[in-house]
Amino acid sequence: MGKLLLEDISIAYGGERVLQDCSFSVEKGEFVSIVGPSGCGKSSLLSVIAGTLAAESGSVWLDGKRVCGISTDVTLMPQDDLLLPWLTVLDNVCLYGKIHGGLQKLRADAMKNLQTFGLSGYETRYPQELSGGMRQRAAFLRSALCPSDLLLLDEPFASLDVITREEMQDWLLHLRQRLGRTVLLVTHDIDEAMYLSDRVLVLAGRPAKIRAEFIVKEETRNRSWLMEQTQQKRDIYAALKGELE
Ligand SMILES: Nc1ncnc2c1ncn2[C@@H]1O[C@H](COP(=O)(O)OP(=O)(O)O)[C@@H](O)[C@H]1O
Ligand SMILES: [Mg+2]
Repeated sequence: MGKLLLEDISIAYGGERVLQDCSFSVEKGEFVSIVGPSGCGKSSLLSVIAGTLAAESGSVWLDGKRVCGISTDVTLMPQDDLLLPWLTVLDNVCLYGKIHGGLQKLRADAMKNLQTFGLSGYETRYPQELSGGMRQRAAFLRSALCPSDLLLLDEPFASLDVITREEMQDWLLHLRQRLGRTVLLVTHDIDEAMYLSDRVLVLAGRPAKIRAEFIVKEETRNRSWLMEQTQQKRDIYAALKGELE
């Protein structure tokens, strides 16, 4: 069994089904993206995996164990960076240690990683003094310092301008190897999904279902290659629009 397995997950709000029979697995160390239009249920799906939302039916398995309730083996980085404005960057980044203990070790780990996350010299600043990209990196560092090895990223770059977004994608691609985590990213950006992932799943329709799956080759993961991938992009787009069944 893989790191994460979803079996026939359906999600409904007030009797209205938004997602139906969603099944897929993610292997340990794999980077999988789910691409889908706004409102198709991506955030809801991540909430079900993290155990903060009950599915209408189906089951989620993590390391072979069924997820029931909030799971501490999963780190969810929400769409909004959720940095607390009254805490410094370092205190924000070490929030997990404040809540769960082990603060000293976490602080030491955070200090070691500030450089990699482009935050060195900013540890005593407050979130509102940072640029959008830096805030996002601080939120990333906070997630990366949580001990779980499944990272769920909910449109982490959606609020950034195009240039900053591309810089952050490059940085995440580079960080991927260092982190060695299993990552499930949701996005509405086809380029982002193709650039960062081993595999792209397309979620679309109402209720939304997994419409298609695309393997992205590792050796071709670079921007000039991405510009040339018109056919695969077209296929992903067609699947999103429901033209591929
Ligand atoms: N708490 C909620 N109560 C009722 N409807 C919700 C709730 N959360 C999300 N929805 C609805 O479920 C659908 C999927 O939402 P969401 O998972 O946020 O989609 P996405 O992240 O893909 O934009 C949307 O139509 C949204 O309006
Ligand atoms: Mg969302």
